[in-house]
Amino acid sequence: MTETENIFDSADTVARWRANAERRAAYLGQATERMLDAAGVTAGARVLDLGTGTGDTAVLAALRVGPGGSVLATDVSPAMLEAAAESCTAAGVTNVEFQRQDAGALQSLEPGYFDAVIGRFSLMFVTDLAEALRGIRRVLKPGGRLGALVWGPPERNPFLSLSTRVARREGLLKVPEEQIIGPFRLADRDGLARAAVAAGLEAEVEEVPVEVRARTQETALEGLQCSPLTQTILGALSETERASLEDALKVELETYREGEGYRLPGLTLLLRGRNPA
Ligand SMILES: C[S@@+](CC[C@H](N)C(=O)[O-])C[C@H]1O[C@@H](n2cnc3c(N)ncnc32)[C@H](O)[C@@H]1O
Repeated sequence: MTETENIFDSADTVARWRANAERRAAYLGQATERMLDAAGVTAGARVLDLGTGTGDTAVLAALRVGPGGSVLATDVSPAMLEAAAESCTAAGVTNVEFQRQDAGALQSLEPGYFDAVIGRFSLMFVTDLAEALRGIRRVLKPGGRLGALVWGPPERNPFLSLSTRVARREGLLKVPEEQIIGPFRLADRDGLARAAVAAGLEAEVEEVPVEVRARTQETALEGLQCSPLTQTILGALSETERASLEDALKVELETYREGEGYRLPGLTLLLRGRNPA
């Protein structure tokens, strides 16, 4: 992947991603713990974090492995890596190193070095999934484990797909289909498990539900707007079109009203893998 293709590499996206850390911790907290458990991120482990973003998972992994363990936090975006380093400093963890690294091309990393590989919502963005999975197997010790979260299908994740659906309906969808599919590229549960097995991992994929809650329509809309995909959709519009899409989204959000607030369901897939030899 080239830098220009990575929609996560702009200063604006990085700042937004950072600002959204608390919201992510709330709706992804349990799923993330399951991912860390699946990968066997425990005291003393050597962990590779793929597509760490602003470092949420690097910090969590670093706290789990403690001073006897280590985390290599990687991302294809230098701006994300910088932010991840700042998150680690702010959290007071000192056992994390940072490296610019395409998750689909792990050849430069030492074979059989890691006890655990994790990746939260990053595997969908590699150019060649088969190559990425072979690379993961190669860098894992025998018996080492992978835990990776990816998004389930768009219709099960309205907080991610609502903007696309409403923009399409309103004739306001002006971004390439490839970008729209991006977050959902690995939503085929069986296909993902098969790809991991084909790469030589023992693997299974389980569904892990999540839910996004918001107290007000304003914060619910803000939540939708945190997604880089929604930002891309909005960024392609004139001011008037943008206002019109935001109005339509507010109306649509009412479908998800529950009591005083809003509840948007979501579905992630947890890929659990193990290097058998
Ligand atoms: C949806 S964000 C997830 C960030 C972080 N893991 C989290 O859960 O908060 C996707 C991340 O993957 C990174 N990314 C995209 N393509 C990548 C690739 N080929 N290799 C490594 N990282 C990649 C992006 O720069 C971005 O930081």
